[in-house]
Amino acid sequence: MTKYRIAKIPGDGIGPDVMAAAVKVLEVVEETRDIGFDFVELEVGDALKARTGVALPPGTIEEIEKSDAGLFAAVGETAKEVILPMRQELDLFVNLRPAKVYPNVPHLKEDVDIVMVRENTEGIYKMIGDRGDGWGFNVRVITTKASERIARWAFDYAVKYEREKVTCVHKSNVLDKSCGVFQEACQHVAGSYPNIEYDEVIVDACAMRLILRPEAFDVIVTTNLFGDILSDEAAGLVGGLGMTPSGNIGDNNAVFEPIHGTAPRLAGTGRANPMATILSAGMMLDWLGERNAATSIEDAVIEVLNEAKTLTPDLGGSAGTMDVAAAVSAKL
Ligand code: IPM
Ligand code: MN
Repeated sequence: MTKYRIAKIPGDGIGPDVMAAAVKVLEVVEETRDIGFDFVELEVGDALKARTGVALPPGTIEEIEKSDAGLFAAVGETAKEVILPMRQELDLFVNLRPAKVYPNVPHLKEDVDIVMVRENTEGIYKMIGDRGDGWGFNVRVITTKASERIARWAFDYAVKYEREKVTCVHKSNVLDKSCGVFQEACQHVAGSYPNIEYDEVIVDACAMRLILRPEAFDVIVTTNLFGDILSDEAAGLVGGLGMTPSGNIGDNNAVFEPIHGTAPRLAGTGRANPMATILSAGMMLDWLGERNAATSIEDAVIEVLNEAKTLTPDLGGSAGTMDVAAAVSAKL
């Protein structure tokens, strides 16, 4: 039996609730397949900071490093102190954010099936800047190395998952220095993948086209902040953040998380939608090489949505977080 050490990072707000739901589903995967998990729980976030003064205690990054993968739920005000160092110190250079339409999830557009590949380590997120009286700046750093690395990952993903097209989203017409580097890197890498179609769109036009013709997009590769913004837009097209999983992926490690935050108004109600975290757990299994188990989680989610008997209030139902976990588990 393959046993995986999983860093489990529940965080704040609805984080612990949706994490419990995803762990329940993973436990059923354990019972029904030849896979085992050792969960190592790591405390991070606002509540921890209020108690101890630190949001990301020393040793957390090392614990994740020692694990085969991490599953993270959400943190509140301290997100910048928790998730950004995780991404950067573990060199999780890919932020993989699929957005697709699921059954019975109210959505704005049909036929959306987009995979956003967001560069996750540089750009404006380098956190280089300064602030004085009446002025402030942040510096955007783009390197050929990181840009080629993310472009290659996007094309390899397209090959592996039988996608047809990769679109580079940039703003070279204005951010000529930084986006120039990114665009050239994408063009260079595209040359090695003659079987995958390649095109480019300027970010503002992309934002509009996502609304008008989202079905025209397949895989999008873009820089850190553009990917941050466009992935929320894509999530909005397919029914909001309750259904959108993501993965922070590096060469040797990865941390999976729902795109949503801590939803303070839902914290403690037991009514948060756990689907994004359950789907993130599925993506984690896929990344670990357990593609069958991963597919079975997504299929179980789709069955529960199709039946529409066990849905949380955001999807028009009245079920609780753990009811949804039980319903998905039953399908496994
Ligand atoms: C995300 C979030 C984070 C980001 C914040 C909370 C630091 O918006 O994961 O998309 O900007 O990357
Ligand atoms: Mn975001």
